[in-house]
Amino acid sequence: MSEKSDQTKILVTGAAGFIGFHLVKKLLNLDYEVVGIDNINDYYDIDLKYDRLKELGIDRKAAENFHEKVQSKHQLGFTFIRVNLEDRGYLPKLFAENNFEQVCNLAAQAGVRYSIKNPEAYVDSNVVGFLNLLECCRNHKIKHLIYASSSSVYGQNEKVPFSVEDNVDHPVSLYAATKKSNELMAHTYSHLYDIKTTGLRFFTVYGPWGRPDMAMFLFTDAMVKKKPIKVFNNGDLERDFTYIDDIVEGIIKIIQPENENSKARYSLYNIGNSKPVKLMDFIREIERQLGVEAQMDMYPMQPGDVNRTWADVESLKEDFGYNPNTPVSTGVKNFIEWFRKYYT
Ligand SMILES: NC(=O)c1ccc[n+]([C@@H]2O[C@H](COP(=O)([O-])OP(=O)(O)OC[C@H]3O[C@@H](n4cnc5c(N)ncnc54)[C@H](O)[C@@H]3O)[C@@H](O)[C@H]2O)c1
Repeated sequence: MSEKSDQTKILVTGAAGFIGFHLVKKLLNLDYEVVGIDNINDYYDIDLKYDRLKELGIDRKAAENFHEKVQSKHQLGFTFIRVNLEDRGYLPKLFAENNFEQVCNLAAQAGVRYSIKNPEAYVDSNVVGFLNLLECCRNHKIKHLIYASSSSVYGQNEKVPFSVEDNVDHPVSLYAATKKSNELMAHTYSHLYDIKTTGLRFFTVYGPWGRPDMAMFLFTDAMVKKKPIKVFNNGDLERDFTYIDDIVEGIIKIIQPENENSKARYSLYNIGNSKPVKLMDFIREIERQLGVEAQMDMYPMQPGDVNRTWADVESLKEDFGYNPNTPVSTGVKNFIEWFRKYYT
């Protein structure tokens, strides 16, 4: 089956973020026309966000200005605009000026721990921002809205692997509560206005250009600097670490309608590797590849955190032929190679 599109125009929100950047890159390789938006918030180092945009041919000076349309220098099909999803005045204009066929919403206030101290940021970006986007999708007859949810909606679910059939009424962080809210809001809009929506519950995504607030980055950074790493719950945690290329492949399959086996208007899928890794084994793999022994400071379980995640991805395999196949050893190697190159 051909991966080429007929120049379908797609809006990607969170385009300066980790997953958004990789998705835009792949879409451009497949000849899609892409408009990327992001508010470039300072939750983590904004230089990393601007450097991702630079990779996509976007000039920083121009991209710093809100609402300025910045054309990529080396990708004809890519325009970036700094926009806040909460901006109820500008978003409808953006949709009116562009004939988007599909929207992929990756913009959000991410991170579990930060939501304990900054709950407002989560409601603003993830609930108010998402509502604004839904309204635009409704008013501009968008064919398909794909949006990021999270494995955190499972809370302390004990049954493994986690299935979209499991009860998710017990989030343990406000971040998780806003992601669950997105799923409910999408359901309402699919039902009331016949908008096709697909929610994706991402499971601990890692890889080159990854987020500085996540374990892969924090551990590597500390170990390279010969500083101690913080290990929560005394290391007794498991995560379904999922490599960025597998995530992007999965999203692309969902964007390409010819791949789909299900005609549902409202859909929800897990997107993970489905092979959980013990945190201590993950640390050992980083040690092995860096050639550095980690100094570990042990901490108790953190509020809002969960003990383990494990995605059941059978329905995504069945409906779209999703096939994650990057082993952790390869993913860690690729991350470390990028990290060394970027920070030296
Ligand atoms: N990375 C993971 O492991 C993971 C796991 C589960 C869910 N997710 C979800 O996937 C999506 C992408 O995550 P990521 O890892 O790329 O995070 P990221 O923080 O790198 O990217 C999100 C981007 O959205 C932008 N943004 C935030 N609020 C905005 C707003 N109100 N308006 C416009 N832009 C805004 C940020 O500036 C950032 O660049 C998020 O929705 C996140 O919650 C990620």
